Amino acid sequence: MSERDLRPGGREQWASKIGFMLAAMGSAVGLGNIWRFSYVAGENGGAAFLLLYIAIIILIGVPIMLAEFSIGRKSQSDAVGSFQKLAPGKPWVTAGFLGVASAFIILSFYGVVAGWTLKYFVSYLTGGLWSEPADGYEAFFGGFIGSSVEPVIWQFLFMALTVGVVLMGIKKGIEKANVILMPTLAILLIIMSVYSLTLGGAQEGLAFLFAPDWSVLAEPSIYLAALGQAFFSLSLGMGALITYGSYLSSKERLPGATAGIASLDTVFAIVAGVMIFPAVFAFGIDPSSGAGLVFIVLPGIFDQITGGMLVGIAFFFLLAAAGLSSAISLLEVAVAYFMRKFSWTRKKTALFIGGLIFLLGIPSSLSMGVMADVTFFGLVFMDGMEYLSDLFLPLGGLIIALFVGWGWKKAESLEASDFGSSGIGAFWLFLLRFVAPVAILLVFLAQIGLLDW
Ligand code: PFF
Ligand code: NA
Repeated sequence: MSERDLRPGGREQWASKIGFMLAAMGSAVGLGNIWRFSYVAGENGGAAFLLLYIAIIILIGVPIMLAEFSIGRKSQSDAVGSFQKLAPGKPWVTAGFLGVASAFIILSFYGVVAGWTLKYFVSYLTGGLWSEPADGYEAFFGGFIGSSVEPVIWQFLFMALTVGVVLMGIKKGIEKANVILMPTLAILLIIMSVYSLTLGGAQEGLAFLFAPDWSVLAEPSIYLAALGQAFFSLSLGMGALITYGSYLSSKERLPGATAGIASLDTVFAIVAGVMIFPAVFAFGIDPSSGAGLVFIVLPGIFDQITGGMLVGIAFFFLLAAAGLSSAISLLEVAVAYFMRKFSWTRKKTALFIGGLIFLLGIPSSLSMGVMADVTFFGLVFMDGMEYLSDLFLPLGGLIIALFVGWGWKKAESLEASDFGSSGIGAFWLFLLRFVAPVAILLVFLAQIGLLDW
């Protein structure tokens, strides 16, 4: 038995600092960096969106990420329990409940998209995508996601994998796989970017991603899109990083870990952009064509590479694996909470909650097919769920920022974050107290049309 089993309450701990870093990076790096970043950046004009996104990461994302780790490590509890322990009877715990709700919402559609990556992986494995389908890749994708049964089966398979890892426990399940898979994905992304740049769309693609057309900033919805995507990609605002921080002992240095995780996640997104957009222009695809973007563009790239089906096999395997390490952290938020709350076993909780989330995801899966007419906020079900996550994550982040910035004493916050009395700690608190909350509120106001410019 390891030391963690001797701890009061028997909560688990990461085996090592590197284990925590890899798991947190595994949570951050996922479908958000490749699938979601490229389609949201594509829909919002490219370079200006990217700059806005990076500014939000630095001024809002990084400080709140450090706040989540500080809360989790200090409380040694889950997303809800943390607030109940650190501020009993206070309303801050709303952030915890929002977080558990966000876990259900996000994982419900995340499982659907991850299921698509599994389908593509298997299609590359078995030859189904070795050559361009008769009607092209776009029709192939559209036909697949528009059908009723098959996508749900892939979603089920992916959710079963996620539940399997979570019920095996933190250390054994999550820590190990990331060590090999993440660096491999990084290498493959870089190779594919280089390849994509040779396809003839390099100039247009790079200009789209890096030469800002500022006029898109006049569109109010770009701000919520960038804010929501930043939180989504960093796994922020829903207690996932509180939960992961709670498995951490007090030996680590949190600011350095935070900077490393946020940078890595952002670099992954940018490299993914360099991979996607040159190919988008080379193939004459509209960058704003939506959630199917990578599933249409990537096969086109593999088609151009000699032996591309091998690259396709490797790529979709790694993408599904990156999705898995993120999905695990989503499920863990809900599982950690319900386990403690109802004193259920990890196994029972993971199976039950994972099953519920699978069911909740079915309407998303069907929303490109038989349920295409069912809408809320004027959006099909899956887009509606994504919209909710764009709202819930920043709202949770807002409460977390206010809690650490105002709810804790200054000295307490600085100690919990490992900043001590350094000047940069004071700057961090300034960002949490003023900059992040005001910026998030302004984005919400812009979204509901109350800001006019
Ligand atoms: N950060 C993940 C990604 O970029 O794919 C998605 C995610 C994981 C969001 C965990 C939120 C979360 F709590
Ligand atoms: Na991410």
